[in-house]
Amino acid sequence: MIGIDKINFFTPSTYIDLVTLAKHRGIDPDKFTIGIGQTKMAVPTITQDTVSMGANAAFPILDKEDLTTIDLIVVGTETGIDESKSAASFIHQLLNIHPFAKAVEIKQACYGATAGLMMAQDFIKAHPGRKALVIGSDISRYGLNTSGEVTQGAGAIAMLVSENPRILALEDTSVAMTESIFDFWRPNYSDTAIVDGKFSNEAYINFFKTIWEEFSKRTNLTFEDFKAICFHLPYTKMGKKALLPLLENESEEIQELIMHHYNLSTTYTRDIGNIYTGSLYLSLMSLLDSDAHSLQSGDLIGLFSYGSGAVGEFFYGRLVEGFENHLLKEEHETLLNNRYDLSMDEYEAIFNKVLPKEDGTHPLSEAKFDNSLFYLSSITDHKRQYSKRQ
Ligand code: HMG
Repeated sequence: MIGIDKINFFTPSTYIDLVTLAKHRGIDPDKFTIGIGQTKMAVPTITQDTVSMGANAAFPILDKEDLTTIDLIVVGTETGIDESKSAASFIHQLLNIHPFAKAVEIKQACYGATAGLMMAQDFIKAHPGRKALVIGSDISRYGLNTSGEVTQGAGAIAMLVSENPRILALEDTSVAMTESIFDFWRPNYSDTAIVDGKFSNEAYINFFKTIWEEFSKRTNLTFEDFKAICFHLPYTKMGKKALLPLLENESEEIQELIMHHYNLSTTYTRDIGNIYTGSLYLSLMSLLDSDAHSLQSGDLIGLFSYGSGAVGEFFYGRLVEGFENHLLKEEHETLLNNRYDLSMDEYEAIFNKVLPKEDGTHPLSEAKFDNSLFYLSSITDHKRQYSKRQ
């Protein structure tokens, strides 16, 4: 049995309230809070990037023994900070993992962390007794005053993958699908994503339908076999749009159960936004942290990963006995309750100050808002330096 032994997320300490954003943009706030299904959006200061957020997510779940048994560190991201050096190599050092581990970064839009999880599962199969650390860390940016603006966000997830996992044991069968499309992409020269919004929604829905039908055909499993299905959530309405049409022929009881758990899986995303690679795993944590009494060990949880461009995969796992004792629910509550609510001016100023100057330096002027454990402390000579608060 291989799967998720420990899991955590991190989001920066600054956000904008989406009613504030809607009012400033002259948009009915209901469009954002009901139509899109989002309430708050994480906005990282320059001191939080893919590396620092990933380290912040991973640090709380690793003990001394983990640091000597993790042989693989995979960071899935589409907002890496270097075209060459991996975010994983920085994180390996920040977390003090033993030197004989390998560290790599994987890219395929929001699918990257799932690719990392699959790689970790295979790695542990081939190396019994060892562990893998999988991180998904991203900053979602579409630009000020764009239709994608309300679906931005920032954050990271970290999962320790091992034998005899204490949270979710992964099953072996999954169905993946690839199709080269331009629904959402970001050329190397752009620091904001380009998106064909309506087409991206259609592509997501079509991927879920096609993959689910193939999965069901191959495994003979139906919605009745699952207690819950978690989704990659670019915004909380998205999974629902994909799920509802497929639930139409199910009994009322199954529809209610799956939708009840779907709603519980959206809480964190609603208050954080799209964290790209980590999003699906944020949904899983939202569901598990919700104390749903209907969830028990042995229950099957389905997971739908989607990364524009596009690659999708449906896979599943079984909740392990005592899983509820290994969650960081209180820590997650504390993290979300201790954030700073940015004014519109602060949000726009932070948004506009992301790139270092051409000489490879950056003033890092918004550090005052950031009280996270790991943070970007300087950029000099084109080298990013990170610090850990004592
Ligand atoms: P839009 O054109 O601003 O919004 O774009 P809309 O007009 O489609 O309205 C959105 C919803 O609000 C609609 O509901 C409206 O009816 C409703 P729906 O028909 O969808 O159920 N609405 C209202 N509701 C209540 N009161 C009102 C009101 N007005 C309207 N007054 C869009 C929305 C999501 C397309 C845009 O924000 C966007 O392009 N976002 C980025 C792309 C995206 O998130 N795509 C999702 C699928 S692709 C994916 O998941 C991959 C991704 O994560 C990237 C990766 O893989 O790396 C994005």
